[in-house]
Amino acid sequence: MITPQSIEQIKNRIDIIEVLGDYIKLKKRGSNYLGLCPFHNEKSPSFTVSPAKELYKCFGCGKSGNTITFLMEHDKLSYVEALRWLANRFNIEIEETEQTQEQKQFVQTADSLYIINNFSQQFFNTQLFDTEEGQDIALSYLKERGFREEIIKKFQIGFNPSSRDTLASALIKNQFNKELLPKTGLVIAKADGEFVDNYKGRIIFPIHSTTGKTIGFGARVIGKADKAPKYINTPENEIYSKSKVLYGAYFARLAIDKADECLLVEGYTDVVSLHQAGIENVVASGGTSLTVDQLRLIKKYTNNLTIIYDGDAAGIKAALRGLDMALEESLNVRLVLIPDKEDPDSYVNKIGANEFINFINANKKDFIIFQIEMMLKDAGNDVSKKSEVVNTVAETISKINKTEDFTKQQDYIKQCSAILKIDEGGLTNLVNKYKRDKIVKEEKRLPFDDAGNQQQQGIQPEDVLIDNSLLISQDEIVERNVMRTLLESGLKKWDEEKTIAQYIFDELEQFSFESPVYISLFNEYKLMYDKGLEPTAKTFLYHKDENVRNLVISITVFPYELSQKWDEVLEGMNIVNRDNSQQDALMSVNYYKLKKIKKMFEENQQGMEHASFEDQLTQIKIHQHLKEVERAITKLLGTVIIK
Ligand code: UTP
Ligand code: MN
Repeated sequence: MITPQSIEQIKNRIDIIEVLGDYIKLKKRGSNYLGLCPFHNEKSPSFTVSPAKELYKCFGCGKSGNTITFLMEHDKLSYVEALRWLANRFNIEIEETEQTQEQKQFVQTADSLYIINNFSQQFFNTQLFDTEEGQDIALSYLKERGFREEIIKKFQIGFNPSSRDTLASALIKNQFNKELLPKTGLVIAKADGEFVDNYKGRIIFPIHSTTGKTIGFGARVIGKADKAPKYINTPENEIYSKSKVLYGAYFARLAIDKADECLLVEGYTDVVSLHQAGIENVVASGGTSLTVDQLRLIKKYTNNLTIIYDGDAAGIKAALRGLDMALEESLNVRLVLIPDKEDPDSYVNKIGANEFINFINANKKDFIIFQIEMMLKDAGNDVSKKSEVVNTVAETISKINKTEDFTKQQDYIKQCSAILKIDEGGLTNLVNKYKRDKIVKEEKRLPFDDAGNQQQQGIQPEDVLIDNSLLISQDEIVERNVMRTLLESGLKKWDEEKTIAQYIFDELEQFSFESPVYISLFNEYKLMYDKGLEPTAKTFLYHKDENVRNLVISITVFPYELSQKWDEVLEGMNIVNRDNSQQDALMSVNYYKLKKIKKMFEENQQGMEHASFEDQLTQIKIHQHLKEVERAITKLLGTVIIK
């Protein structure tokens, strides 16, 4: 990890005009600079940069931030990646905190693999363009399929000659670490210690990371694949993990951002062909169903995913498998099937770019609707099959569970009940049942306290809308609200200086959560946050501890509605215009404190009865202090809620 000193150094050296000037043409206007906003399309400039404040703001689309958030937003870097980028840009040597031996080893291996891959990629390129075999066999095949040199070069496509060890001997001659070579999948180590090429006689598609480094390869046989597999792919290693990569993401990222849509196809050649046709917002999954990591990668750029698959049954099934996950990630998923045994590559070559785009736009179908229609066709007149369809659809719709997607869910219920010819209210009930089932299942596994004495609670039942099927103690709601704020808005700004997470840490320093699962979630969040890892709810969805996992799920699945009365209080305090998350943070932190203080009060009072005189004096002082704190918080929260 980067040391805090280095971070300081980087932050001090940042020149916002210099950095943003690399991306946008900026003109000086008074003390500010003005340019065309990179985040939305505009003809007259409204993107303003203030060098004094080190901030930018677009008066067109409202985007604002500092140099680091600019890099995060524009180049989709993480906070740490942005810092490294800046350090590199300004020649600042980064000091890293001590790594474990294992971490060092990992980084070293990864670095070496990048270097070997980079060398090999260039080697393959030379082989394709500058050797007789490459030109006669590989390049001619690519050209025959309609790929032009320009696009071959852009995607750095290459060729591994067919003799035994062309690449292997070049790697060894260049003294690359022999032990690491097999890890790359490029060569195979024979029992006698000899190295031979693994991709002999194949066309090579380099696979890039989102920052453009070669992390792996897909190697295709030339012509028909009779005996050998059509493609051989890089094995999992320190830098390549199939389930996290989307082929073409590096070349597509800006176009996806611009179009606010990501097209997903199956194969390498589909991506390259569509690019050549000028359709650049396209990535490939590599023929397998989508993983959560891949969906999240897409979600960094857009919420709109259009899956373009061949019309064959296998393709559709593979696509459908990703659906529920995509809904849980709140992506809008649409599907287009390519007709007549074609795939996007062959189809765009057949009908041309314009026709292809028209076809996609005319045939895009919402994923859920698509699913219903397909199942209904299958079911025919069979009544029990039809009721199965209704159930499946209800369950699918129940997966759309984020609060912001509530309207979307309502829309689906409307549309689907029309297609299924069933009552809208009935479908709503069924969807709710699935939602409840899921939550109850998760809640049961959580270690909850019994309901506490209601009179002690700052929050009255009417202040919080709670689903009756969830038996969560009033005590816990207070803790839960803090945790929810942390997970959902921790990384947002509290004020110019700190994030909401930092505000919560500062405010709650003296307190601690009651149940172990909250304690461990809170501590881990803080640990990651302090390391600059930017944790969110999603970070913990796959936590090794099931209790933590379930807690996070139940918090995100069922966000508690905060009291309407809070709004009145906030209005009185003149902070209604702040971002909602700041209100949430303020309220949840203070309710939490109030509850804790009331508890301390009681404990203090109990102690008084049997204490010595000195102890009693100290306790009176504590008591007075607590009283003051309580008064302050009560004032902050307003009298409405306090009894
Ligand atoms: P396809 O068989 O559709 O190949 O597999 P393709 O991409 O259209 O290639 P061309 O047009 O025939 O040259 C789709 C994707 O599935 C993966 C590859 O990522 C491929 O691009 N795949 C396929 C493999 O990994 N191994 C295989 O043997 C076949
Ligand atoms: Mn194909």
